[in-house]
Amino acid sequence: MNGALEYRDLYKQYKSGMGARNRLVAVDKLNLCVNQGEIFGFLGPNGAGKTTCIKITMGFLKATSGQVAILGKSNTDWRVRERVGFLPENPNIYPYLNGRQALAVFGRMFSLRGAELKKRIEDVSEQLGLDRELRTPLGKHSKGMLQRVGLAQALINDPDILILDEPMSGLDPIGRRMFREVILRLKQRGKTVFFSSHILSDIEMLCDRVGMISRGRLVLDMTMSEILEQRASGGRDLEQIFMEKVGAAQ
Ligand SMILES: Nc1ncnc2c1ncn2[C@@H]1O[C@H](COP(=O)(O)OP(=O)(O)OP(=O)(O)O)[C@@H](O)[C@H]1O
Ligand SMILES: [Mg+2]
Repeated sequence: MNGALEYRDLYKQYKSGMGARNRLVAVDKLNLCVNQGEIFGFLGPNGAGKTTCIKITMGFLKATSGQVAILGKSNTDWRVRERVGFLPENPNIYPYLNGRQALAVFGRMFSLRGAELKKRIEDVSEQLGLDRELRTPLGKHSKGMLQRVGLAQALINDPDILILDEPMSGLDPIGRRMFREVILRLKQRGKTVFFSSHILSDIEMLCDRVGMISRGRLVLDMTMSEILEQRASGGRDLEQIFMEKVGAAQ
């Protein structure tokens, strides 16, 4: 395996009790390869299995079967994990820390110290337009402010691969534009970004490729240029594709 992120026959079944009726297949034999330097949009309706997949990738959940590789190595290899930045679906950072302190904690996890840590905090804060967020305890932040701090912590180690679970959620239009600019700058530097989102316009503006899952199954894997070409020749747009691929399954 030599893509940035590779899923081979990934399968996850949740068990909420005894018996077959209490089992739910959240990810169903997912095979997918995200290339290095690619911005990949992971789409799917609520409950499709996106977060489950992302949590398995990050090693927070164990797959029932199948494998995930990051940069050709097992996703549980700590050396490769150092090269990944992650934003969870609901960033839940210690509420008494202010943004600067929280970023320092995350930076230290990646062995950043002293002047280097200070410089990284300044760099990510500038990229995400953090100001009041740095001085106020996180427990007093609005949803969008927390999301910006969450994004900043995902960038603190200058990762080669970013895995973001609904990064646009709660951001105002200025925040969303800022986020898009951050992602495009990362792309220029050859980084890989894998993110889930429900905001189709952001996916269209940013992504090189789109994967769609429904009930744990991959139902579409297409480049954005293929989608745009199809639309230009009178075909369906991304919303129509979404409705066709997943609407029927709901
Ligand atoms: N801890 C759990 N135990 C049992 N079932 C779970 C658990 N976590 C998620 N599920 C179920 O697995 C399925 C996939 O959930 P998941 O959170 O991965 O979806 P998602 O695509 O991220 O949805 P959303 O767009 O709403 O964030 C859902 O049916 C959900 O109810
Ligand atoms: Mg989710």
